[in-house]
Amino acid sequence: MNYQEAYRKLEQAGQTHVLRYYDSLTEKEQREFLQQIAETDFSVTAAFKQAGRPVQKGVITPLTAMQIPEIETGRAGFMEKGLQAVRAGKIGAVMLAGGMGTRLGADGPKGRYDIGVTKPVYIFECQIRNLLAVVEEAGVWVHLFVMTSDRNHDETVDFLKQHDYFGYEEEYIHFFRQEMVPTTDYNGKVYLEGRGRISTSPNGNGGWYASMQSAGMLDLVHRAGIEWLNVFAVDNVLQRIADPCFVGAVLTRGCACGAKVVRKNTPDEKVGTMCLEDGRPGIVEYYELTDELKNTKDEKGDPAYNFGVILNYLFREKDLAGMLDQKMPLHVVEKKIPYMDEHGSLIRPENPNGYKYETLALDMVHKTESCLPYEVVREKEFAPIKNRTGVDSVETARKLLEQNGVSL
Ligand code: UTP
Repeated sequence: MNYQEAYRKLEQAGQTHVLRYYDSLTEKEQREFLQQIAETDFSVTAAFKQAGRPVQKGVITPLTAMQIPEIETGRAGFMEKGLQAVRAGKIGAVMLAGGMGTRLGADGPKGRYDIGVTKPVYIFECQIRNLLAVVEEAGVWVHLFVMTSDRNHDETVDFLKQHDYFGYEEEYIHFFRQEMVPTTDYNGKVYLEGRGRISTSPNGNGGWYASMQSAGMLDLVHRAGIEWLNVFAVDNVLQRIADPCFVGAVLTRGCACGAKVVRKNTPDEKVGTMCLEDGRPGIVEYYELTDELKNTKDEKGDPAYNFGVILNYLFREKDLAGMLDQKMPLHVVEKKIPYMDEHGSLIRPENPNGYKYETLALDMVHKTESCLPYEVVREKEFAPIKNRTGVDSVETARKLLEQNGVSL
């Protein structure tokens, strides 16, 4: 793309201000900047207008979860069915590790964060150890796909390699990058992070399947005979991955998708709640849950919207292919974004100063025909690390890991 073409593209997007420093760049920098402009999709920035507006939801009704007593009664059968699927190579795992982990505030990939006390224990190590437990039980390797972003790809790959993949078989680990999108100020104007560099951030965890496709991963999925993908967040260090009992329960119920859920601590807990929206599975975000929904009871007198998702979903792969050309809702998230000011100085704001634009994996659930919310014991399977201290933090996760016999 030459300068004139870049100018026209920016003009159409209302973003010509990004060329402010163009003349002061070296030839090489100019070439790289034009290349970035050519590759950038500016259309997402139009969504700044929807920030803060309530998301239009359909009619919300309850969706009953499979609860612990039922799981315990069916455990032997679910395990057998699930293990069979794992042994037949039908289950793949997808780790979402492209996020920036800004709340944790550590440099580099979140999975590289050391939560050990007397020895190093890395977040990636916890995840791989959890998956290895299934590999040992099933006696076969499970393909593990790791989503990174331009911000952390090389560091993630190097770190895992340096640590010999924490005992995982190298040929079963596959890295792919997610796409990046521009960040903007509150008026939808793109920020610069350098004189010749647009500020970008990963496009949210909802693009994982599309990014697997762009990276050529689906050929491998199909060649390996993988029929189900278990997608999970990098930061829940207690989660079970490719969990045979969960897989078996979803297969037995004949659902197109499964979602691990926890019983909410309080109706106000800040987790998305499983429900039906216009008769299809869906998730209402905690800020969308009205008092009326919070107070609705089921026939046993329990809260009808009582199960929160923990970002651990099992999707039938062939259904995902059909979602590729469907538009995903765009979420506009307020963030602190470092930017270059009009004097050419890089500013690191202490308060939010703009938006990033994301699609979310939870919105894929709504595109499936049926979903099984599958209850897990919170203290055994939910230890997310979002912050250094306080709620969902390194501190709370350490306590939970120790309770579950992990030595730190
Ligand atoms: P979070 O929503 O907690 O975001 O991601 P984050 O980037 O890790 O942390 P903050 O909000 O900046 O503090 C939930 C999961 O989705 C992944 C994260 O890596 C985490 O596993 N994720 C998030 C991606 O893979 N890509 C993204 O663009 C965003």
